[in-house]
Amino acid sequence: MTTQHSLRAFGLHTPPGKSSLHMESVSLSDIAQHHGTPCYVYSKSAILQALHEYQSAFSCFPSLICYAVKANPNLSILRLLAEHGAGFDIVSGGELLRVLEAGGDPQRIVFSGVGKSIEEIDLALKTGILSFNVESEAELQRLAKRAAILGIRAPLSIRVNPEVDAHTHPYIATGLRTSKFGVSTTTARTLYQQAAALPSIHIVGIDCHIGSQITRLEPFLEAADKVLELVESLQYEGISIEHIDLGGGVGIHYRDEECPSLTTYANALQNKLKNFNGRILVEPGRSIIGNGGLLLTRVEYLKSIAERQLVIVDAGMNDLMRPSLYQAWHDIIAVGLGKTEAQIVDIVGPVCESSDVLGKDRLLSVQEGDVMAILSCGAYGASMGSQYNSRPRPPEVLIDGQESRLIRYRETFDDLVKSERIPL
Ligand code: LLP
Repeated sequence: MTTQHSLRAFGLHTPPGKSSLHMESVSLSDIAQHHGTPCYVYSKSAILQALHEYQSAFSCFPSLICYAVKANPNLSILRLLAEHGAGFDIVSGGELLRVLEAGGDPQRIVFSGVGKSIEEIDLALKTGILSFNVESEAELQRLAKRAAILGIRAPLSIRVNPEVDAHTHPYIATGLRTSKFGVSTTTARTLYQQAAALPSIHIVGIDCHIGSQITRLEPFLEAADKVLELVESLQYEGISIEHIDLGGGVGIHYRDEECPSLTTYANALQNKLKNFNGRILVEPGRSIIGNGGLLLTRVEYLKSIAERQLVIVDAGMNDLMRPSLYQAWHDIIAVGLGKTEAQIVDIVGPVCESSDVLGKDRLLSVQEGDVMAILSCGAYGASMGSQYNSRPRPPEVLIDGQESRLIRYRETFDDLVKSERIPL
């Protein structure tokens, strides 16, 4: 069972004399009352603290923390991070436009992804981003051609697949030999030689990303060793590398995971990078906002079936896909004080899929109408949401001390159908 002590790790507490859980100084019952449920809620101080932890751990190098926009692309979140010195890792033209609208500096943007379209490449070239993280020979050729047509030199990094097992869920491991991402070190060397001869390309860096929710440091360090080996041999061939981008951040605490320490990570890198004079980039997403966000949901019904007690809530797999897609575990707690005896229940959503289960075998005291909080949903929660079953997406609220601010409206029926209302 989650204790007050462990709740504090999520920035949550129930103040003495109050019956509702609070995020910072705001009652979550009040948020549910005011904005309705389901509703995503984020803590500004938790997000900034996570960013500052990266910035200070990596301050032993010239470094840039490029927040992975896919984790949570809300404009207000991007604006907050941009104001506090973050760069951005993007994977689409849409993410690029979001970062620009939020006031992000183009020279702090790296563009990852295996399938960049011509339109996306042109947009990023005209924007003047820091680096294209190129993932294949065909992409290098396309980038060089588009840059030549536009009369711009394209800043290039090659994404190397260091072939390291990240020991994470197979859907989010990207550094295995069979992964679609990046190129082998041998291919990378050839691509750098080709790139060096292309007048429309300017080699700026090297990049890797081995997966997400990695809870051990060894895979990161093993990947760094392989990338460094390549950097050294490239330098020997006269190809100089201005930055090393080590990809995503460390894993977070969902249940019982120990999260690697950023200072230990940075110190271990410092030893390895003694002979490298350039900049270090990292692209954390989950560890910036994952534990700083939760999803509020209300109990619609209790239902008993064969040997199981179901708690049917108003949030579903369309709002939070992680449990059904990755069998991910998120803590689920009552926001108010339980009035009934706790029992073992399954928390399920209203979506018409048997996989719409948000939590199984949880010990909870619940009754109809209670508000529950699904924890650690700040990253890959709202961003992976859909309108499946014609369910409008939930609102998002940012808490700052005693203040709460709506940063995304709850969608309406009109939002669901407006792009389909085509005059006959
Ligand atoms: N850089 C690249 C190139 C990435 O592909 C990713 C995540 C990141 C950085 C950020 O990694 P992080 O710091 O968040 O671990 N939807 C999945 C996670 C997919 C991650 C995809 N790439 C989930 O909910 O677990």
